[in-house]
Amino acid sequence: MKAPLTIALIMTAAVGAYAADLPRPLTDGDYLWNGAPDPKLYGLGRSLFFDPVLSGNRNIACATCHDPARGTGDGVALSIGEGGTGFGPDRVTQDGVIGRVPRNAQPLYNIGARAYTSMFHDGRLELDRWGGFPSRLRSPASEQFPEGLDNTLTAQAMFPVLSAVEMAGQPGENPVADAVSRRDFKRAWGLLAERLSATPDYARQFIGAFDDIKEPDDIRFDHAARAIAAFETVAFRSDQSRFDARLAGWPMNAAEEAGLELFFGKAGCSSCHNGPLLTDHEFHAIAVPQIGPGKYQGVDGSYAAHTGHPHRVEDEGRFNVTSDAADLFGFRTPSLRNVALTGPWGHNGAFASLEDMVRHHLDTVASLASYVPNDLPPLETVIQPVRNRTGVSYQVLSPMQRGAYDLRDTWVHSSTPLRSRIASANMLAPVDLSEEEIASILVFLETLTDPTAVDRSHLVPPTVPSGLPPQPSPAK
Ligand code: HEC
Ligand code: HEC
Repeated sequence: MKAPLTIALIMTAAVGAYAADLPRPLTDGDYLWNGAPDPKLYGLGRSLFFDPVLSGNRNIACATCHDPARGTGDGVALSIGEGGTGFGPDRVTQDGVIGRVPRNAQPLYNIGARAYTSMFHDGRLELDRWGGFPSRLRSPASEQFPEGLDNTLTAQAMFPVLSAVEMAGQPGENPVADAVSRRDFKRAWGLLAERLSATPDYARQFIGAFDDIKEPDDIRFDHAARAIAAFETVAFRSDQSRFDARLAGWPMNAAEEAGLELFFGKAGCSSCHNGPLLTDHEFHAIAVPQIGPGKYQGVDGSYAAHTGHPHRVEDEGRFNVTSDAADLFGFRTPSLRNVALTGPWGHNGAFASLEDMVRHHLDTVASLASYVPNDLPPLETVIQPVRNRTGVSYQVLSPMQRGAYDLRDTWVHSSTPLRSRIASANMLAPVDLSEEEIASILVFLETLTDPTAVDRSHLVPPTVPSGLPPQPSPAK
């Protein structure tokens, strides 16, 4: 009868070794609006999030890429934005697109947590810690950004509508896209606000949700952004996992407990993936291979020289925001909550399996060297602008142009000098784990799945005020 007691003692001792590093449980106070914004604001935000009316050509919604039934992403490495049709891996592009979205659609679980003070894989939108921006936010819209937005989540919702490839569309196609191409962001936001003012059901909802809106013409786009943020905060909160139960004191099974111990102990994961969201909100270079067209940022001109397409194809991550060499190829540590639901993994979806993503961490440089690029969703039709005296029109790439164009997706990875820039920026030292230990960590990562997050398609409203079909299609 002695054995169980001994085991219990050993387990208590083991828990003691890392319990100090375990985060505290999440509470309402961790979220914007203390997790409970006015239901009118939430309801309005819900309509906006699924309504294609916010896109220049009225053909894509936020939820097209952040689908509540697909881990709040779209299930592909790199999204197909404006111009595509269909959802998730079935999205197609017969109508023609300009290109791929260069990064993986980020999951939105717990994105309403106050701990997020930067947005995007590179944190290019963030609270201004330096002073100098009247809006108190440092962002790509710099001085055009409205003042008075008090959180980065609201500020973030101002941006997808300004992206030609994500939501705005191409110049010549619609006035929002034209304004964006002139970098007149205020005009683009104004045009979208006018669409909302002109929709009676929206006008009524905005007047109900905001004290400073007395008549439809008072609606500004930042009002819409605030409502979207309120919706995201409630809709994507996710703190009902087995890991949450563990933090509240309920034991997990022995295999899960072993994985947790490794994660917070010897494997070193929690040196970056820490706190209640399992992220330090900092930027680290861990040599994730590059696939896709990049952010047009790097200094290398070899692709342009080879193909004649005037693009640079590297994605230098945080460096592009700070110009600090220490930030080259750094990306924000992702939250690991619901990580089993959010593949493909990495800032560009380079890894199609969670296990490969975890194994990459164990010897990043070797993994980069042996990496075989993952399939990207096929692009049926790629178009390019042709400028003439009357304006701009769009032409399908010729087969030769198309061949050169497609090289973008693998250009960086197939170039030894470009790959070695990624390798030399790496900051993560190899970690020695046995096969059994790797398996344990994967078991632990499954405990981060909140069963209520697996399919939240009930969030998709049956109709939206614009009268357009909501995206993605509502659950039957
Ligand atoms: C075409 C696909 C697409 C559409 C449409 C889209 N997003 Fe995203 N979203 C992305 C991608 C890709 C990223 C990461 C971008 C980056 O890091 O450069 C992202 C990032 C985000 C983030 C930052 C998350 C974080 O962890 O920092 C939020 C919040 C977000 N999107 C909300 C929205 C909202 C709100 C809308 C609608 C107004 C929207 N998205 C429309 C693809 C999309
Ligand atoms: C040096 C900091 C650091 C350490 C230590 C670390 N990670 Fe990461 N992890 C990151 C960063 C940064 C990314 C994103 C990299 C990118 O996309 O370029 C990431 C990405 C991930 C992802 C993919 C998440 C997603 O949504 O795409 C998983 C899973 C993950 N890490 C698990 C682990 C595990 C398990 C360990 C321990 C074995 C670990 N990490 C150790 C920084 C770290």
